[in-house]
Amino acid sequence: MKYLYLLGYPLGHSVSPAMQNAALRACDIRATRYVKNPLPPEKMREMILALRAPHCIGANVTVPHKQTILAHLDELTDLAREIGAVNTILKKDGKLIGDNTDAYGFMQALRVRHINSQGARVSILGAGGAAAAAAFALAQADAAEIIFLNRTLARSVELADRLNKKFPYLALAINDWEALAESQLIINATSVGMAPRVNESPAPKNFAFPKHALAFDLVYNPPATQFLRDAKRDGARAIGGLEMLIYQGARAFELWTGQRAPLRVMRNAAVTALQEIMQTYAPKLK
Ligand code: ATR
Repeated sequence: MKYLYLLGYPLGHSVSPAMQNAALRACDIRATRYVKNPLPPEKMREMILALRAPHCIGANVTVPHKQTILAHLDELTDLAREIGAVNTILKKDGKLIGDNTDAYGFMQALRVRHINSQGARVSILGAGGAAAAAAFALAQADAAEIIFLNRTLARSVELADRLNKKFPYLALAINDWEALAESQLIINATSVGMAPRVNESPAPKNFAFPKHALAFDLVYNPPATQFLRDAKRDGARAIGGLEMLIYQGARAFELWTGQRAPLRVMRNAAVTALQEIMQTYAPKLK
C-alpha cells in the first residue's frame, strides 16, 4: 500500500480525504490511500521522516505548515518559491518537491464562474499562504491593484515586497481599510469564520459591502460564512471556498498520479463529506 498524506494541525474536519480517495477509486488506483497525518509544528522532523518513507508518494500541506515546510524540502517549483507557500508535495527519485496548486485552484474557481479579474481593484483580508496564492494568481491575471488587510502588519509588508519584485507595475497597498468599500473583489484569506466559530467575520464591524462587489471567502466550512452572509445582505455577490478546494485538489491529484482528475467524482465526494460535517455543526448554524 502507498500513501498520500494530508499534513496539518489540527486537521479536524477536512473533506480532502473523502475527495481524494473517491478520485483514487474512480481511477482504479487501488493500492494508494490518502490519509490524515496530523502533526503539530514541533513534530516537523517526524513529518519529514514520514514523507521520506518509501511508502509515501506525496502529500498535501495545510495550516500551519504551508510556509514553514519550505526549508525542509529538497526542491521547490518556481511558483511555490515565488508564493512562499507549499500545499502539495511530490516525490521524484526520492526527492521531496514542493509545489503550490492553491493559485490554480483560486483562479479556476473564478474562471468557471466567468469572473474576469483583469483591471480589478482587489482587497485581500489576510497575508498568509492562502492570501499569497490568491495574490500571485490575481497579479498574473492582470489585476490592477491589490490591497492587503492583515492583523499582523509585518506579514503584509513581506508579502507585498515579494509580489512587487515579480510584478513591479502592480499597484499595492497595505492596511488601507478605506479601500475596502471601493474594491471590486473582496477576498477572505484568513481563517476567521471557519467552523466551529461560524459567527465571526474578518470584515470591520458595520462594514457595508458595496453592491458592485464580489465577496470570495476561501473558507469552505461552513459554505455560508458570516462574511458571505453579510455580503449577500448588502446586495453583493458571494462565492465560497469549495470550488477552490476542489480545483487545487484536482491539480494535486494529476501531479501525483499523472492521470486526469475525475472532477465530477471529486466534487460529489467533497459536497457529500461537507454535508456530513455540517450536520455536526447544525445546531450552531441555526
Ligand atoms: P493559510 O496558509 O491558510 O493562509 P496562515 O498562513 O496561517 O494560513 O494564515 C492565516 C491568516 O489568517 C493570516 O493572515 C492570519 O493573520 P496574522 O498574519 O495576523 O496571523 C489570519 N488570521 C487568523 N486568525 C485571525 C484572527 N482571529 N483575526 C484576524 N486574522 C486572523
